[in-house]
Amino acid sequence: MSKSFDVVVIGAGPGGYIAAIRAAQLGFNVACIDAWKNASGGPAPGGTCTNVGCIPSKALLQSSEYFEHAKLHFSEHGISASNVKIDVPKMIGRKDAVVKQNNDGILYLFKKNKVSFFHGQGSFVGATESGYEIKVSGATEETLLGKQVIVATGSSPRALPGVPFDEELVLSNDGALRMGAVPKRLGLIGSGVIGLEMGSVWRRLGAEVTILEALPTFLGAADEQIAKEAKKAFDKQGLKIALGVKVDEVKKTGRGAKAALTIAYTDAQGAAQTLEVDKLIVSIGRVPHTAGLNAEAVGLQLDERGAIVVDADCKTNLPGVWAVGDVVRGPMLAHKAEEEGVAVAERIAGQHGHVNFGTIPWVIYTSPEIAWVGRTEQQLKADGVRYKAGTFPFLANGRARALGDTTGMVKMLADADTDEILGVHIIGPMASELIAEAVVAMEFKASSEDIARICHAHPSLSEATKEAALAVDKRTLNF
Ligand code: FAD
Ligand code: NAI
Repeated sequence: MSKSFDVVVIGAGPGGYIAAIRAAQLGFNVACIDAWKNASGGPAPGGTCTNVGCIPSKALLQSSEYFEHAKLHFSEHGISASNVKIDVPKMIGRKDAVVKQNNDGILYLFKKNKVSFFHGQGSFVGATESGYEIKVSGATEETLLGKQVIVATGSSPRALPGVPFDEELVLSNDGALRMGAVPKRLGLIGSGVIGLEMGSVWRRLGAEVTILEALPTFLGAADEQIAKEAKKAFDKQGLKIALGVKVDEVKKTGRGAKAALTIAYTDAQGAAQTLEVDKLIVSIGRVPHTAGLNAEAVGLQLDERGAIVVDADCKTNLPGVWAVGDVVRGPMLAHKAEEEGVAVAERIAGQHGHVNFGTIPWVIYTSPEIAWVGRTEQQLKADGVRYKAGTFPFLANGRARALGDTTGMVKMLADADTDEILGVHIIGPMASELIAEAVVAMEFKASSEDIARICHAHPSLSEATKEAALAVDKRTLNF
């Protein structure tokens, strides 16, 4: 006998667990299936984001930033802290505790919202007149029947061809977040978001970090001016980034404690180079994850990248089957997955769920932080849009000076005719928090004049956003 539900969600990452909670709030009888296991084999809902992504990476970024502050910046404040040391296992233990708090929080939310949680692998069995049959293979096996199904199975790290992850020497994000000691020489392939965040963590803790990037331009998705500023800051910190590189071979050398890797690559000038490292993090993007879902059983359509094909509303080719998050098109971001999850639950309830892809913020949690929303200057040029730009440096912001963190700027781009804000790009302290104001402004189709006329608290970093808005009309007050 299968257990029957109005909605069955497969995957409890940010896309799935949020969809399950929202569907339950809307009065549906909801099941959520998730396969992730914690160290003792128990459930660990939250997906990549909670277990080996957003949350643990930010925990380590925080620990390593404190360490660097203690070593380099405390003395400016008159604080002496000699012999500052890092206890890596303790730092990793704290990170694990933060992850567990989040896992437990989701289990609590499921209980609170009466979502039935099933720990195990969910796979399609077939379709019946009353819905889809889904088998859960966990400690026990059972079959659920879902009138509606939301697939939120996420993504997996992409390996370099011929160089599988062993999580000892060749690490994915998983291994990168649980090294037991600081490697002397750390290599990274790919200077995208993971490369920069993980490279920063281990550099701050003392590793000699080299990042090999295939593209000739640094952070191509960011605004060029911001990317240039970021490159300058990372160079100054000693993060070595080689652009325009072709990785030819990765070879293991030595054994046991002496095990290492030699990377043969061709540099941007076409010269053959080698890099010796003790550990290598491969961060060259992620691929949609549908392994084990048995999509074929019901004829669920995938594209050539393995992503589930959906329309703008996250509907798949099958009636009553939806898909959200990393397993479908669009940016692989937790907040994008969550918004899609909410919108799908609301659509199932006959409401008009909505996700605005034009106002999804991007944040890179390095130091300085990098955040943006909307179009870059180079995109506006390519689109032939007439725009005005205003920038304001944190060097001229009182709060940033008090913090001792004056790198970077806020840059605002507005339509030359209507003054509507088209993009905001920030590099600097707390850019991750500052970007929220820009998202709200763009969602409400604000003009730069609107932001320029809003009272911002003094002294605060947010005044830099107001000043950038004033700069659009060439009337900054503090610069
Ligand atoms: P996932 O989080 O991948 O969750 C999918 C879940 O489904 C998993 O628990 C998986 O076990 C389960 N599952 C898969 N198949 C099955 C099955 N057949 N049966 C049962 N369960 C199944 N994004 C941000 O927005 N901000 C960040 O700061 C950020 N940092 C990141 C740092 C790193 C190192 C990484 C790797 C990613 C980061 N991301 C970040 C991206 C973010 O983690 C993803 O965009 C997000 O997790 C996608 O959510 P999802 O629900 O689609 O999938
Ligand atoms: P990414 O797409 O951000 O960057 C991958 C980089 O690797 C690119 O610069 C690409 O040009 C390069 N690359 C690809 N193949 C290569 C090769 N063979 N040799 C050298 N370089 C190569 O992917 P990443 O960093 O793996 O992260 C995956 C996703 O996870 C991100 O796109 C993002 O969606 C999400 N994420 C988000 C974070 C955040 O929001 N702060 C943090 C970390 C990850």
